[in-house]
Order: sequence, then C-alpha cells, then structure tokens
Amino acid sequence: MTEIQHERLLIIDFGSQVTQLIARRLRELDVYCEIHPFQKVTDAFLDDMAPRAIILSGGPASVIDDGSPRPPNKVFKMGVPVLGICYGQQVMMHMLGGRVERGDGTAEFGRAYVTPTETRIDLLNGWFLEQREQVWMSHGDHVAAIAPGFDIYGTSPGAPFAVTADLERRFYAVQFHPEVHHTPNGKTFFQNFIQDAGFTGDWTMAAYREEAVRHIREQVGDKQVICGLSGGVDSSVAAVLIHEAIGDQLTCVFVDHGLLRQGEADEVVSMFRDHYNIPLIHADEADLFLGELDGVSDPETKRKIIGRLFIDVFQKYANSIEGAEFLAQGTLYPDVIESVSFSGGPSVTIKSHHNVGGLPEKMGLKLIEPLRELFKDEVRALGMELGLPASFIGRHPFPGPGLAIRCPGEITREKLDILRKADAVYIDQIRKHGLYDEIWQAFVAILPVRTVGVMGDSRTYDFACALRAVNSVDGMTADYYPFSHEFLGETATRIINEVRGINRVTYDITSKPPGTIEWE
Ligand code: XMP
Repeated sequence: MTEIQHERLLIIDFGSQVTQLIARRLRELDVYCEIHPFQKVTDAFLDDMAPRAIILSGGPASVIDDGSPRPPNKVFKMGVPVLGICYGQQVMMHMLGGRVERGDGTAEFGRAYVTPTETRIDLLNGWFLEQREQVWMSHGDHVAAIAPGFDIYGTSPGAPFAVTADLERRFYAVQFHPEVHHTPNGKTFFQNFIQDAGFTGDWTMAAYREEAVRHIREQVGDKQVICGLSGGVDSSVAAVLIHEAIGDQLTCVFVDHGLLRQGEADEVVSMFRDHYNIPLIHADEADLFLGELDGVSDPETKRKIIGRLFIDVFQKYANSIEGAEFLAQGTLYPDVIESVSFSGGPSVTIKSHHNVGGLPEKMGLKLIEPLRELFKDEVRALGMELGLPASFIGRHPFPGPGLAIRCPGEITREKLDILRKADAVYIDQIRKHGLYDEIWQAFVAILPVRTVGVMGDSRTYDFACALRAVNSVDGMTADYYPFSHEFLGETATRIINEVRGINRVTYDITSKPPGTIEWE
C-alpha cells in the first residue's frame, strides 16, 4: 500500500480495458486515486486504505455467472460514496437487491445518448444543456430491476437504467463509461462525483514534491543511494527529486553504451554535474558494448547482450560507492498497476525490454522508487516543478538499447555515425516545422542495404534509411504521423546532402499493430 497521505479514492478493478482512464480523469481533477484488482480488496485492505470514495470499474464478466467477481460487502457499509460503472453498476445492483439480465439483443455498443428524467441530481450538474448527452456504452447484460433505495435519473434507448442513484446512501450507478473520451462531458461527471465525496483537490505536484522529499529522507536516513541514469525523463526526474531530499548521499551512474543520439551524453553529463551538482559517474563503456555486439544481427540477441552488460557495468561502478544501500529507479504507476487477467495465461514476449530488473536482489540493495504513484504526464509536471528544462522534459521517449535497435543487421561504428547524423537532421527538420511536440516519437533507422544513386555526375553506392514518426498515447498502439509530401521531400534532400553515407530516404508508414514502433 502507498505511503501517500492525500485524500484517497479507491478504484476497484474488474478488468475493463479502460480502468486506467478512470484514474487519469481523477488525477486531472487533482484527486489522488489508486487502482487495485478486486481480488486484493479485502475488509482489512479497506480499513487500511480508508478511501473517501470508491469506484467500481467495468469488466468483461457477467454478474449472473457463478464465481463472477464481487467487491466485499463492506464497500457498501463504509458510509462513503460509491460509483459503479458498467459491470460495476451491475454488480452493485446485484448485491444490493436489484436484478441483472443477460443481453438478449438489447446490448449497446458505442455512442449512445442519455436523456434526463424529471428530477435532476447534482451528479449530472452541467449535463443535458443540449437536452441529451452523448455517452459511450459497451455492455451485453443489463439491469432489469434496480435495487431498493435507487431511483432513475437518466435513460438511453438501450439502457432504461442508464443513471440511477440512491441519494441517501450516496450510491451512484451508470451503465455507460464516463471515463472515455467518447463521453465528452465525462470530466464534469467525475467533478460532480468527487465534489459530493468532499475531495478538496489536494493532489498537486508542489504538494507531491514536498511529501516525496520528506518520505525519501525518512526512508534513506544517513545511507547512500545510487541511481542509474539513462538520460530519459523518468530516471532524471527521480534523480533530481532524490537529490533535493538527500543531496550528496545520492550518486548517479550514467552507463554510456555508445548507442546514444548525437550530443546526448554531453547533455546529460553537463545537466547533472554542472547544473544540478549531482555526483555523477559517467561510465563510458562504448568499447565494451560495441565489442560484444560486433557481428551480432539477431534483434533478441542484441537486446540480451545489452541488458546483461548494462547490469554488469552498473554493478561494477555501483560497487565502488561505499555504503550504498539503496537503488533508485524511475518506475511509474502504469508499471505498478496489477492488471486483472481472466484468461490467466502470460502474454507473449514480443521484445525483451531492457531494464535493470533483478539488480536490487543481486546486489542486496533496497529499492527506492519515488515515481511509482505517478503517470507519465505527472512525471513531466513534477520535472517542471523541479526546474528541469522544458526542452528536456518534452523529449521523445528513447529505448534503453538505444540506437542498436534502429540499426537492423550488424552494428558498426560507421553505421552508428551515419545514423546519428541523419537522425539529428531529421529532428532538426521536425523542430523547425514546429512539429516536435505534436509527434509522440520520431527517429531514423539505418537500413542494412546499400543502394545505387547518382550525385553530380558520379555513381553512389550508399545506405538507405527509414524515417519513423508515430503518434501514440502509451506506446502500446501507434499511428504513423501524416507528414506533408513537402516536408518529406525537403527532409530527404537535406539528409542526402548533409549526411555522407546515405543516398536514399524512405518513410515508414506502418502503424502498430501490425508493426512495432522501433525496427527491432
Ligand atoms: P515498440 O518498438 O515495442 O516500442 O513498439 C514501444 C515503445 O517502447 C520503447 N522501447 C523500449 N523502451 N527499453 C525501453 O526503455 C526497451 O527495451 C524498449 N524497446 C522499445 C520504444 O522506443 C517505444 O517508445
């Protein structure tokens, strides 16, 4: 359980694909909330967390089936407002004495419109300005009879009980999903709910910073902490926050594997050492990494080699820091949320991701993860709060294995040099056209083919490269970015003119799925 002292809201997860969005909407309203799978929420858990309100998420099960998931009865006895969404609504009705029936062709999927009944409730303040309100539905089963104490406050053609409430007990149940963007007025809905629950909106980054600093001090005492810096936003924000708490008891180890972008190592070193005065070991291990990668072209082998060496190198430098007892990591909330799995089976490994997992046990270190309650955009906000430059915070994600996975086939220093230059020109173009912040991630991959070209009166036989640019929310799915032909033409010309070694430029228009964002 968290150490967070703010007013807390509990989201009980029944496995909906969009449960995380409930948390997003609430955090946007400065409310601290946590998602926990229903299996974990026991009476003792509820006592311990003492939430000020509870939300029951949607989910794929049917309450009519034996063994379908339930929250503990105690949820309804704590005297706090409870909101049930979709499956959450049905489970609420079922447990409180209503009746749910199986879908018989009355199911609703997608956009629907809710109209109000005569009596208006505060939960729907700001709704129905246009008579009816667009919402997003996705349900097979439906409520056939509402539980005693409930009344109807909104209906839709497929869901006569679209909005119901027991105002006395402050129980609310909706069939639609207020958390998704297709319910455009969903934020107002949540605003009304948290107002009813008495939240003051005390979850701000300034407050979080203070609290985190205090907590880190308590946790660490007079011991030493080491932090692996990758140059990415998460580990950097974690390092600056920890440094604010414990000063020189923190040492950062920046493992430079020789697979970074142009100017990146210098930028990280100067920011941490010169600007923040954080003790930093710059482990320049390019020879080691590139040596072991020599002749390797299989993507998974590359990833495994880099992951293993990273741990070895980190351990070597960390061992040189006397009295280190803690290892800091930039773990984020989405990595911590335990997702509910009904199928049970593990998901297929598409790529082995590079991280320093396993290090703490191996080295006998305790973990400190000051960002584990935060979403990505909150980490950015915290970074701004801590004074990190906006240009640094807004940087596109960069993978741990670095340029190795943007260089399909064998990696050579020559190819890496060409790739770095082409990438720098491409990013410069994107910035010049004011597109950098509009794109989620953009980079160049150098292809393992040479092609024939003509420059001036001479024949060339150089590498081809691919430009990649995608938009995404979380990297799980992505669409290629629709650059104009002018932009692409201009960029290709610049790369070929300015980067010796490339004579052909292509644009990758694959979305994810079926492609992945990186080339390997
Ligand atoms: P893919 O290529 O799997 O990438 O579609 C999704 C997102 O994850 C990043 N990525 C990684 N990040 N370690 C990381 O820290 C890795 O091993 C890794 N592999 C891919 C990728 O850049 C994209 O943002």
